[in-house]
Parts: sequence; structure tokens; C-alpha cells
Amino acid sequence: MERTWMIYGANGYTGELIARTAVEQGLKPILAGRNLERIHSLANELGLESRVFSLKEQNQIELGLVGINLVLHCAGPFSITSAPMIEGCLAVGADYLDITGEIGVFEHTHAFEQANRAIETGVVLCSGVGFDVIPTDCVALKLKELLPNATHLSLGFDSDSGISPGTFKTMIQGLSSPSAERQDGVITKVSLGKKSRTIDFGRGPRTAMTIPWGDISTAYHTTGIANIDTWVPMSTYKIIGARSMNLIRPILATSFVQKTLLKWVDRSISGPDEEVRKNSPAYIWGEARNAAGEKRTVRIKTANVYSLTAFGALAVVTRLLNADVPGGSYTPASLFGSELIEELPGSGKFQVF
Ligand SMILES: NC(=O)c1ccc[n+]([C@@H]2O[C@H](COP(=O)([O-])OP(=O)(O)OC[C@H]3O[C@@H](n4cnc5c(N)ncnc54)[C@H](OP(=O)(O)O)[C@@H]3O)[C@@H](O)[C@H]2O)c1
Repeated sequence: MERTWMIYGANGYTGELIARTAVEQGLKPILAGRNLERIHSLANELGLESRVFSLKEQNQIELGLVGINLVLHCAGPFSITSAPMIEGCLAVGADYLDITGEIGVFEHTHAFEQANRAIETGVVLCSGVGFDVIPTDCVALKLKELLPNATHLSLGFDSDSGISPGTFKTMIQGLSSPSAERQDGVITKVSLGKKSRTIDFGRGPRTAMTIPWGDISTAYHTTGIANIDTWVPMSTYKIIGARSMNLIRPILATSFVQKTLLKWVDRSISGPDEEVRKNSPAYIWGEARNAAGEKRTVRIKTANVYSLTAFGALAVVTRLLNADVPGGSYTPASLFGSELIEELPGSGKFQVF
């Protein structure tokens, strides 16, 4: 019997991109969200079924999910939307995927309680099936395969991809928190711009700074490596600017500043168009070290951040719909292996050093 699946948040920038890519691939998701007009109009245009429900009431979510086998959740910030949708999926027995990049959301998905309930109900929970974290998660697993006794893992990416409204909003909410890294297995707050170094992500050596990327959570669940940091290229000038953010964080966290910035995003940010998506690939890098000082480095070039999010999320959806995976909490690479990233459109092959 054909399994039924849903994209929730289908009218957002990324949800719509995934819905259109799904139709191009011959897939037939049910489109869902809370905005009746925009969901109906997109579903009519694409010739797909639709459902409209909000995430405010648990019984409404469960009603909205009746008969659904899998949800691809695209409505963020996920710090607000993920937990109620996971509850709904566990209640109706639907597999749950999302495209979050938020450390707190990953930790919730992998928490003992959620993981146990997922095992008991036979439901697969997998957060991060977009750019964050498929490529870096696959690089993390590849490095673990190359250096099984690694104690330290660094991951990073370089891209001129442009930015979507929801990603911007999630970043604005993050302005109120410091950076993070994993130290001896524990997620630890560190000040922004604390560490810098030179890294060749795939376009030549560049100065880089650590940021609180989702792999601080997920790469630990995938590899068990206890010390993890995550890097992006940043000019020395901007690293100094980032350090000064530590001083003004209390101001950035006020509700006045947050609301003003979020309104500005609604007015000004529309996300990268097809031309930008086609012409701005991403460069992924990872490095593992063991106690003896041995080191392995892996690089891979991939499609643009948003194209990869659509290709990656749909690859996980189609594989999961056609596989018999036991219930539990997974990362993308722990579900489908390190080679998942090499098999996506626009990806090269791993380069190992
Ligand atoms: N993993 C990755 O690499 C990756 C890539 C792209 C995006 N993302 C993440 O995906 C999320 C969406 O990004 P986007 O740029 O597509 O955002 P967007 O264009 O702003 O769309 C957000 C969508 O979420 C819905 N939504 C927001 N809050 C909701 C709530 N409380 N209840 C129900 N629906 C809600 C919105 O519905 P309304 O229209 O009704 O407001 C809209 O459909 C962000 O968190 C972003 O960080 C991750």
C-alpha cells in the first residue's frame, strides 16, 4: 500500500521549494500549514491535496495527521514548532523529519524520553534533513570510519548561498545566546569569536571562526566523538565584530530589538532565487584527531544550501517511505550512511587527506 506523507509549513520559502521539487520528482505529498489561503493556492497550483491546521492545540494536530505515515516538518523556528509536531507524530504513529538547525531542537529529538517513546511506538524521529545537517553529519561519519578512535572533531562549511526569511528569523532568535561547542561530551556555552584559525574549506585557505551549528548536538549522536566544534569562514575584521557582540547581547535579547528585527525580515528578506541557487555551491570540510595526534581531513562540494535542503529532505523521505526502519531517534547519517551526501544531485565525491 502506498504510504501517505505531508509537508507541513509548505507555504514558507523552503517548504514551497521542497513541494515544487517533490512534484518535479513525481512525488505527491499532502501540503499543510496554518495559512489557509496560501496553502490552498499552492496545493491547487501543484495539483496536490491539502490540510490546514495550526500547532496550538494537540488534538487539532492529531486530527490534521490522521492517515499520515510521515511528516516532513518545514515550519520554523523549530524551537516553537518541533515539540508539538513530534507529540502529534508519536500519537498517530507517523515518522517525523524536520529541517531544523537548532541545537536545542536536536537535543529534544534525541532526549531519552523521545527516543524511548519512538522505539516503543515504532516511529522514526530524524531532525536536520536539510543542509543543516546532512552534509556535515555525513562528513562526521566518514571521519569516524577513517579514524575510529578520534577524540576531537571539527566540521564546517563555506557558501555564498544567500539566506531565507526563516533562517534569518532563527538567527535573530539566536542572537540572545552565546556560541557553543561540545567538550568531553557536554554541550558547553562559549563566547562568540573565542576561537579562530585558518581552514581550506575547498576554495583555498581562509580565516574562520566557530559558530553554534547543529552538529554540536548531532555529530555526537552519530559518532560518539566527545569534543566537537563547528566553523565558518570569517574575515579577521568580522571576527573582531563578532567578539564585540558578546558585550551587547543583553540588548539584542530584548523583546523590542527582537520584534523590530523580525519585522524587518518580513519586509525585506525573500530568500535566494533560482539563479543564485544554481550558481552558489557549498563547500563542506571536516577534520578528526585522535589522542596520538593522528589526523584525517575530508572535503566535499555540494549543491547550494537551499537546493541541497530540498534534495536531501526528499531523498530521506523517499528512502524512509520504502524502508522498514525500526522506531527511534536518528541523525541523517545514522539513518542512511555517510554516502547519503555523495548520492544527492550537485554533490561531488569525498576527498580524503
Ligand atoms: N536545515 C537547513 O539547512 C535549513 C534550510 C532552510 C531553512 N531551514 C529552517 O527552516 C525554517 C523555515 O525557513 P523558511 O525560510 O522556509 O521560513 P519562512 O519562509 O519564514 O516560512 C516559515 C513557515 O513556517 C510556518 N510557521 C512559522 N511559525 C509557525 C507556527 N508557530 N506554527 C505553524 N506554522 C508556523 C510559516 O507559516 P505562516 O506563513 O502561516 O507564518 C511558514 O509556512 C527555519 O527555521 C529555517 O531556519 C533550515
